[in-house]
Amino acid sequence: MKFEDVIAMIREYPDFPKKGILFRDVLPIFRDPKAVEVLIDHLSEKLSEINAKNGGSKIDVVVGAEARGFILGALLAQRIGAAFVPVRKSGKLPGKVSSVVYEKEYGPDTMEVQYGSIQANQNVVAIDDLLATGGTAGAVERLVMEQGAKIIANLFIVELVDLEGAKKLTAQVYSAYKC
Ligand code: PRP
Ligand code: HPA
Repeated sequence: MKFEDVIAMIREYPDFPKKGILFRDVLPIFRDPKAVEVLIDHLSEKLSEINAKNGGSKIDVVVGAEARGFILGALLAQRIGAAFVPVRKSGKLPGKVSSVVYEKEYGPDTMEVQYGSIQANQNVVAIDDLLATGGTAGAVERLVMEQGAKIIANLFIVELVDLEGAKKLTAQVYSAYKC
């Protein structure tokens, strides 16, 4: 299976979750273990290239944003031998948490990470299924930086380029499919 065949598995749903939105659904990829392998091969190769250009540090942590970033993040972390740390919407994580407020379409929302799950000076990569406005990925970057850690790259399967989300991010962005 080629990488293009994996991207072709993404389904488009017009008017979901509301009228006027064309929703890109990456979940069919995860129904096929071979497609998952090709996808994670591709993303981990791109990460190696980005990391090498930045001096080639060891990646300590992969963070994944709720919900589809959990699947991708766990797979990538296992592949590269890093820790996986979830970033969740507020009120879901037990114990002490760090929080950031970010702007969603209809007002502010909060994202959280468990305090101590990312150490100061660790090298972190963020991953999610899709970059739209960049609100979510920007909140993830801020959470990582507030722990004193360094964000090396933001990885996505899909980037909606017209929304210019990449401009909100400080670390390098790689998107496997731009539309
Ligand atoms: C989607 C997607 C990203 C985010 C991208 O998640 O998985 O996390 O939106 O949009 P942005 O760039 O404008 O922030 P969503 O917030 O729908 O949450 P879910 O994964 O829990 O459904
Ligand atoms: N798919 C998944 N998440 C999203 C999308 C989409 O098309 N648009 C904004 N968040």
